[in-house]
Amino acid sequence: MIAVERLVKHYRSGEETVRALDGVSLTVERGELVALYGPSGSGKTTLLTIAAALLAPDAGRVLVAGTDVAGLSRRAAARYRMRQVGYVAQNPDLLPGVPAIDQAALKLYGARLGVRAAHRRVAPLLDRLGLGDRLRHRPDQLSAGERQRVLIARALSTEPDLVLADEPTGSLDARRSRDVLALLTEICAERGCAMLLVTHDPDAAAHAARVLTLADGRLASAA
Ligand SMILES: Nc1ncnc2c1ncn2[C@@H]1O[C@H](COP(=O)(O)OP(=O)(O)OP(=O)(O)O)[C@@H](O)[C@H]1O
Ligand SMILES: [Mg+2]
Repeated sequence: MIAVERLVKHYRSGEETVRALDGVSLTVERGELVALYGPSGSGKTTLLTIAAALLAPDAGRVLVAGTDVAGLSRRAAARYRMRQVGYVAQNPDLLPGVPAIDQAALKLYGARLGVRAAHRRVAPLLDRLGLGDRLRHRPDQLSAGERQRVLIARALSTEPDLVLADEPTGSLDARRSRDVLALLTEICAERGCAMLLVTHDPDAAAHAARVLTLADGRLASAA
């Protein structure tokens, strides 16, 4: 489903160059959940943002269903993010003043689904994420972990083939984190989607088909 090939990204700031990704290759097949570990600053978010076509690499390719997403036009990249990928960003960024259910339905609105149909689609997801009684809450009335789960619901709402989740359990307690990981695993298996999960959670390894470790922009274990 997704093949990352010799991906390179260096950030230059003044004299200094940070080698965020230095030739990373990995694959995730349909129905497979792969966990990506690595210390802070090892390049995990950089890898995911490139795979989500939000950032261009210096070299290498990211093939999703055979298409190199790094070579997409802005428009095609936006369509790719809308239709094919569910991306859960590391820092939840919700629209101020907008109720949780509409935050979760945002991609469906973008796909021109009506409000009622979109709500029918996301309400069960929010319920499975333990937010059934928070549908009308606005971001400033939600905890960090609740906001994170709203973003997970948004990412899954369009039933994407590929899910890229950047520490989706980072703000959750151990029990909720287990629940969310179990749900992601279940959804991945149900829908046969490929899932790349950045995490620091040792529990994630139990759910993952494979565990990869990034260190200084390189994979420590084989893809
Ligand atoms: N826009 C940027 N400009 C310059 N350097 C950057 C930029 N974004 C990231 N970096 C650097 O690239 C390296 C990799 O960052 P990245 O965010 O991918 O790490 P990470 O593995 O996601 O870390 P964390 O676990 O803390 O989220 C870090 O050293 C970081 O400081
Ligand atoms: Mg990160």
